[in-house]
Amino acid sequence: MRVVVLGSAAGGGYPQWNCRCRVCALAWSGDTRVAMRTQSSIAATADGEHWLLINASPDLRQQIIATPEVAPAAMADASSRHSPLRAVLLTNGDVDHVAGLLTLRERQPLTLHATGEVLQVLADNPIFGVLDPALVARRAARLDETFEPVPGLSVTLFAVPGKVPLYLEGESVDVGSEGEMTVGVRLEAGGRTAHYIPGCAAVTERLRERIAGTDLLLFDGTVFEDDEMRQAGVGEKTGRRMGHLPIAGSAGSLLALADADVGRRIYIHINNTNPILIEDSPERRIVEEAGWEVARDGMELRP
Ligand code: MLT
Ligand code: MN
Ligand code: ZN
Repeated sequence: MRVVVLGSAAGGGYPQWNCRCRVCALAWSGDTRVAMRTQSSIAATADGEHWLLINASPDLRQQIIATPEVAPAAMADASSRHSPLRAVLLTNGDVDHVAGLLTLRERQPLTLHATGEVLQVLADNPIFGVLDPALVARRAARLDETFEPVPGLSVTLFAVPGKVPLYLEGESVDVGSEGEMTVGVRLEAGGRTAHYIPGCAAVTERLRERIAGTDLLLFDGTVFEDDEMRQAGVGEKTGRRMGHLPIAGSAGSLLALADADVGRRIYIHINNTNPILIEDSPERRIVEEAGWEVARDGMELRP
């Protein structure tokens, strides 16, 4: 199995177009301690030829340009219009995970996999009709059932604590419930496993059991501190309210996963306010000393 990190930042990317928080300011000024990052997406393959895109970010076109593995290849027998991206899988209906579907128009055959509830969100929005139903099949994936979206790559979706997309939030929002709106992904090929969980409101015992023994964990690293956006003066929302548990603190992922039985552990979906983006920051040191890596765009993983 090969996994490529196409976009390691959370929604908005790093730096975010309208942000000059302390962390974004470093990127805008070209500071070498930080690297720019595009929005949330990975791609995975078992055979190196057929790739599964997991989450379709608004930066998808830029990510394809930066990643030769998923760009149209020079193949003698291929027609001029083709792509190694054969299937797409969504972990929720958030803007940073679905806006890139609009980039995938242009009459390319694909299969789009998501839970029934996430597919319903797309069905309710006519703009996604640009993916011609004659060419793009939409397949409802059931939780905890394994399927093979590209040859040799087994995928299982599982519920994690989450919420509905921001643009569907009503007066009151249920954060932390488990269902079809927010899922994690288990990937398996050739006896190796990886778990990709870019959005998660809490680490439960069930989740710890799920990931036990995995070779690679790519986990929600949106915010370091729960109230980091408030501290940065960019908003009042906490990480938890956005459906993302913090890294630090008594209920943070660092502590909750400290003794988890996983191989390589990498934070992904990192918000632009998160100081782990700065290479020599105390927060970066804390996560690295705890055995975590910080995802960057273009990272290639062989679980
Ligand atoms: C999130 O991960 O919380 C969302 O991507 C936020 C958003 O929709 O911008
Ligand atoms: Mn997001
Ligand atoms: Zn910022």
